Amino acid sequence: MERLRVGVVLGGMSSEREVSLNSGRNVFDNLDREAYDPKAIFMDGQGRLWVIPWQLISQNTTTDITERLETEARRIAYEELRQEIDFAFISLHGKFGEDGCMQGLLELLRIPYTGPGVLASALGMDKHIQQMILRAEGIGVPDSDLIHEDQWRSDRPGVTAMLLGRFKLPLVTKPPREGSSIGVTLVRDEASLVRGMEEALKWDKAVLVEEFLEGTEFSSIILEEEGEPQALEVTEITPESEYFTYDDKYMPGRCRKFTPPKNIPAPAVAAIKQEAVRAFKALGFRSYGRIDGFYLADGRVLITDPNSASGMAPSSFFFEQAACAGMLPSMIIGRLIENALVIHKGKNGPL
Ligand SMILES: Nc1ncnc2c1ncn2[C@@H]1O[C@H](COP(=O)(O)OP(=O)(O)O)[C@@H](O)[C@H]1O
Ligand SMILES: [Mg+2]
Repeated sequence: MERLRVGVVLGGMSSEREVSLNSGRNVFDNLDREAYDPKAIFMDGQGRLWVIPWQLISQNTTTDITERLETEARRIAYEELRQEIDFAFISLHGKFGEDGCMQGLLELLRIPYTGPGVLASALGMDKHIQQMILRAEGIGVPDSDLIHEDQWRSDRPGVTAMLLGRFKLPLVTKPPREGSSIGVTLVRDEASLVRGMEEALKWDKAVLVEEFLEGTEFSSIILEEEGEPQALEVTEITPESEYFTYDDKYMPGRCRKFTPPKNIPAPAVAAIKQEAVRAFKALGFRSYGRIDGFYLADGRVLITDPNSASGMAPSSFFFEQAACAGMLPSMIIGRLIENALVIHKGKNGPL
């Protein structure tokens, strides 16, 4: 039998390219060789694509790989991708990879891929627009305000006073279109508000300011089964820092996670799954997604971070929740590919 040629696309141009490398090589290693013929496709910092030999993906950083591209990899033009692969497993994270750009390119090339189409992928990246949609659907989200860079630059004292009047401290500032906790600040006083705004503006042209949620953070992987999105078992997160930071997320052994949750009562876990599926549908996600949020002391479930793609390192929520459902990494990876193929057959257009 001809095996499906699966291109695992990794690296990329975003702040999360190292996270992507970790996800992508794990997917590459766990692809079932009986069913699939994997190829590692590396996107460099300029957005160029390279077919890299498997020996290169075990390098420590994308910089190490980049240094060896000219001698050990094969550069391919975008339009040649169609001759190389039958399916794209998008392991890119963040800007240009997760946000509809790569999806748009694959649509032009008629290559099916993991995750949703162009529009939902773009929505998956934008926390401000997501909140507007979820609010309209009656799904709980934190109280928030979007401050544009020019607004901030032209009247810092005025914006500061407005924010301190509107939100109780602490509050949270973040770039609306980043991931992996990059640019997020927990603001405890006026001085750290200024720092938080400036930090977020390093990454984006606007800052999303949110009320600080005190409660238990959760992450819920949604998997589409024959067209119906279903929640796997939920994970409860116990960060080691005062919030779930980049190091908490990716440093081995750093913080505790519980799948299923230990400190969230069963009816609330059921409510989380229900809200996560509702958010998945409201944003038009397909194939799979990861919906994160908080369970508050007053019993409310709020959605803070819906993702149309998920980290896939060995200890990720994705594989932890798959394991809880009895699926080996190779099994859930195969499920994603198969459901994405069906979804693409049923589509009419790139969205
Ligand atoms: N409104 C909030 N209240 C409390 N903690 C928050 C809030 N927003 C974000 N955080 C903390 O910051 C982390 C990263 O923020 P998040 O919105 O999930 O962005 P990212 O896309 O970078 O994961 C969260 O996992 C959570 O621990
Ligand atoms: Mg998050």
